[in-house]
Amino acid sequence: MKLQLKGKVALITGATGGLGTACARELADEGASLFLTARTETSLAELTDRLQARGRGDVNCLPADLTMPDSASSVVDAATAAGGRLDILVNCAGASAGGLFWELPDSAWEDSMALKFMATVRMIRAVLPGMIERRYGRIVTLVGNTGREPDPRMLPGAAANAGLLAVTAGLAREVAGQGVVINAVNPGPTRTDRWEGMMESFAARSGKTPEEEEQRFLSAIPQKRLGTTGEIARLVAFLASDAAPHVTGRSITADGGAARAIL
Ligand SMILES: NC(=O)c1ccc[n+]([C@@H]2O[C@H](COP(=O)([O-])OP(=O)(O)OC[C@H]3O[C@@H](n4cnc5c(N)ncnc54)[C@H](OP(=O)(O)O)[C@@H]3O)[C@@H](O)[C@H]2O)c1
Repeated sequence: MKLQLKGKVALITGATGGLGTACARELADEGASLFLTARTETSLAELTDRLQARGRGDVNCLPADLTMPDSASSVVDAATAAGGRLDILVNCAGASAGGLFWELPDSAWEDSMALKFMATVRMIRAVLPGMIERRYGRIVTLVGNTGREPDPRMLPGAAANAGLLAVTAGLAREVAGQGVVINAVNPGPTRTDRWEGMMESFAARSGKTPEEEEQRFLSAIPQKRLGTTGEIARLVAFLASDAAPHVTGRSITADGGAARAIL
């Protein structure tokens, strides 16, 4: 896309997931140096080697469980030490259980808030002082339209998403005069391993097939297809660049036309 990210340093959480990997690849191809994090050391190391071999910016990583309160600052310290500074934060770590409201235990809600909401809050809090000091920062969080249009069977994620949209909009105003731009991307259903796992678990409960469960979502998407990780990653890279710095505090939806609200 020619976003001129050469020389920029980007930290990506949830980097080994479907969307995180696509974002890492896109930012690397645009020339950024990367610092990647997720829990599983082997997949993180493999991804780091793969992206380093593509031959653009430097790629480093640190495994961390971001539900641990001190992890965000450890990751940000390591990323800053490796890259000299941080220009971009992309928050992709997140996973929320779905299911019937009356069958979901407390842990489904607590886990969703601990990872998707609190880990993102801590990551943003940890990168902001450096960005404010240098009067430059781009923060993009993968959120999701269920924060605005909750699906009844995805409420733990919807609650975390609604909170993240509030943080994105409110915090962007706080730091708008200090060179820091904060936005969210709301993917509609996007084909990833996590998505397929979710359809399988819905199917196991309902007695339908995963394809029939997916059809329930496809029927609500005017384009009649799931999103691809590449198209979401290109949107993230655009918001992480200097292409449109007047866009801040917003969430951009890429969902094949599914959201009915005027966004
Ligand atoms: N895919 C979709 O259709 C879709 C739609 C809307 C919104 N989203 C949102 O987009 C984000 C990324 O989704 P995705 O589909 O790429 O998810 P994914 O494939 O499940 O990836 C999740 C990533 O987070 C990491 N992670 C999980 N638990 C963690 C923990 N405790 N600490 C640190 N890292 C952790 C995972 O690696 P480890 O397990 O190794 O830690 C992995 O790298 C999520 O917030 C999701 O809700 C996705």
